[in-house]
Amino acid sequence: MLSSLPPVYFYPVSLCYLICFSIILPFSFCSAPSLFTCPTLCTCYPSPPTASCQSHNLSRVPFPLPSSAQRLFLQNNHISEIGPGLFSPLTSVLWLFSNHISILHPGAFNGLENLEELDLGNNPKFPILQSDTFEGLKSLRSLHLYHCHINRLPSGLFRGLYSLRYLYLQNNRLTVLPDGLFRDLFNLTQLFLYGNLLQSLPAESFFGLSNLDRLLLHSNQLAVVSPGAFRGLKSLTMLYLFNNSLPTLPGDCLQPLTSLQFLRLNENPWHCDCSCRSLWRWFHSTPGVSSSPVTCNSPPPLKGRDLRFLVERDLRFCTSNISPRNGNLSDLAFPHKPSSFYIQGDPGAVLEAGEWENTIEEGGGSGQSASILTEKQYLYISFLLVLLSWEVNRYI
Ligand SMILES: *[C@@H]1O[C@H](CO)[C@@H](O)[C@H](O)[C@H]1NC(C)=O
Ligand SMILES: *[C@@H]1O[C@H](CO)[C@@H](O)[C@H](O)[C@H]1NC(C)=O
Ligand SMILES: *[C@@H]1O[C@H](CO)[C@@H](O)[C@H](O)[C@H]1NC(C)=O
Ligand SMILES: *[C@@H]1O[C@H](CO)[C@@H](O)[C@H](O)[C@H]1NC(C)=O
Repeated sequence: MLSSLPPVYFYPVSLCYLICFSIILPFSFCSAPSLFTCPTLCTCYPSPPTASCQSHNLSRVPFPLPSSAQRLFLQNNHISEIGPGLFSPLTSVLWLFSNHISILHPGAFNGLENLEELDLGNNPKFPILQSDTFEGLKSLRSLHLYHCHINRLPSGLFRGLYSLRYLYLQNNRLTVLPDGLFRDLFNLTQLFLYGNLLQSLPAESFFGLSNLDRLLLHSNQLAVVSPGAFRGLKSLTMLYLFNNSLPTLPGDCLQPLTSLQFLRLNENPWHCDCSCRSLWRWFHSTPGVSSSPVTCNSPPPLKGRDLRFLVERDLRFCTSNISPRNGNLSDLAFPHKPSSFYIQGDPGAVLEAGEWENTIEEGGGSGQSASILTEKQYLYISFLLVLLSWEVNRYI
């Protein structure tokens, strides 16, 4: 008969005491009031033990919350501050999204060893994260930090989060990823970084993510990707880089992605010259990957053509210093010299760049260093390319 009643600890105090004293339950069960009180404005459920306090314009976390509650729903309120000791160590799901959190006291999430899901998304005034904010959350599987206007992450932030599978960092203001940020996340399968302000990806950016399956980097401002950027991502099947500022991408950076199936590179200002040759070669050596179009934006004779369907000869000139969008690369947070990236890697390409510079000097007699082209030289090359494509057409 008792089993048909909802568990006693969610009853009002007086009723609980009545039941405790008049029937059979041990006294100790009722001794801590927080075991069985449900805060006003919250609704509590027994199975699994849940306190649901969402969408009540709450300005603070109700206290005390039922200490037996494993799921705490506090989203869509006006909570601005999270102090230590508010949540029970039994908590496994904690939803705090769409609040106004601007103060996180040290130790706010201390001792939550059973926490599996923490959703802090859509808190636009989120405070600066400290290295130890998530320390000890060894059961955490899913961490939501999207749309929090975060502009920097301390490099130790995700230390020890060995269980993490899903990490949502999209729609923030991140400009760089600190070295070793993901070092301990070898169980991570999905990493959401789209809609940030990333400009470059240095070598080993994703070091440690050997089980990563999806990496979403679209809608950033990426202009430079190191040949070693994706090293170690041997399980990656999906890579999104669309809607960035990439004039080129070193084919070498895609080489380690032996599981890759889906690649999206559209909506980038591809500059189809010798700097794209290693990418072109990667496409031709990896026909199994499903890819979006890779539409050339420049040089003018190749504008609108798909890089993948060019012939290698189309990419023999090295003109990259002319006009990649966001051409000023001097302010990129990139450890290697960005300018060398454009004519690096492929010895053939460098040689041709040299040959071509000589041609210019003989022909135009320009005393200027050929690394930055004058408009006249640029017109000359365009003219040559048009001539070349006309020649090629004649033979087809
Ligand atoms: C929350 O506040 C808004 C206005 O600020 C009001 O319209 C809404 O009814 C309030 N919701 C609750 C549950 O009190
Ligand atoms: C994480 O992955 C390792 C192997 O890489 C495995 O031994 C471990 O059990 C995993 N941990 C969790 C919590 O899934
Ligand atoms: C492309 O990225 C910009 C931000 O860099 C964003 O504002 C825009 O909505 C994105 N466009 C698409 C089609 O995703
Ligand atoms: C390139 O950017 C740097 C730093 O942001 C700036 O000092 C320099 O003037 C810029 N150069 C050009 C040509 O815009």
